[in-house]
Amino acid sequence: MRIQSSHALEARGLDAYFSPPEAVWSLIAIEKQHLPEYIWEPAAGDGAIVKPLIEAGHQVTATDLVDYGLDNCTSGVDYLKAEPRPGIGGIVTNPPYRLAMRFAEKALAEAPYLALLLRTNFLESTKRLPFFRRHPPARIWISSRRLPMMHRHGWQGPRAPSNTCFAWFIWDDKAEQKQHLDWFDWRDHSRTPETLDLFADAAD
Ligand SMILES: C[S@@+](CC[C@H](N)C(=O)[O-])C[C@H]1O[C@@H](n2cnc3c(N)ncnc32)[C@H](O)[C@@H]1O
Repeated sequence: MRIQSSHALEARGLDAYFSPPEAVWSLIAIEKQHLPEYIWEPAAGDGAIVKPLIEAGHQVTATDLVDYGLDNCTSGVDYLKAEPRPGIGGIVTNPPYRLAMRFAEKALAEAPYLALLLRTNFLESTKRLPFFRRHPPARIWISSRRLPMMHRHGWQGPRAPSNTCFAWFIWDDKAEQKQHLDWFDWRDHSRTPETLDLFADAAD
């Protein structure tokens, strides 16, 4: 299914708002020691996570329910029904938020490493408490500075800071200690000077 109208995406509840590259460059830097070589991005969208990971030397399998025109991405794959991929070292994605816990439960059953870009309020709610008791993240990296806004496929408008707080949630079988909390500032890892200027005042 190839969808080009943003209204069609919204109507389908696909949460097709794509990660800013600044979030992914940050992940690559802060999780450098831990990111596995072979990664599956199971809700790949237009490749916002896939492309920087490949540029950083990772081997990435990309799938999504929808075809956004990303090269080498297999569309029509509902992650919640997908067979596990033997040999992958980890799963990295920004999942549709309303399915985030189901994505996490499934991913944790089939991969030793999981990184999810999620709103920090994913930490809350009594609904998720049993999940966190069963699966404490190894590391949570809070984005101290608001990330650039996530936009729909094909957005050509101006960039602005998000009004939502995000964090990278990491589950890692190799981690001896769990629930390590830390912070990052994406400006430390940005590769675009013009973005630094644009967000000069966006401290919070
Ligand atoms: C918030 S967007 C993020 C896309 C990409 N991961 C990124 O970081 O830019 C969520 C993505 O999940 C996809 N999606 C929604 N439901 C899905 C499902 N059941 N299985 C696989 N992908 C799904 C949407 O098509 C969309 O591309």
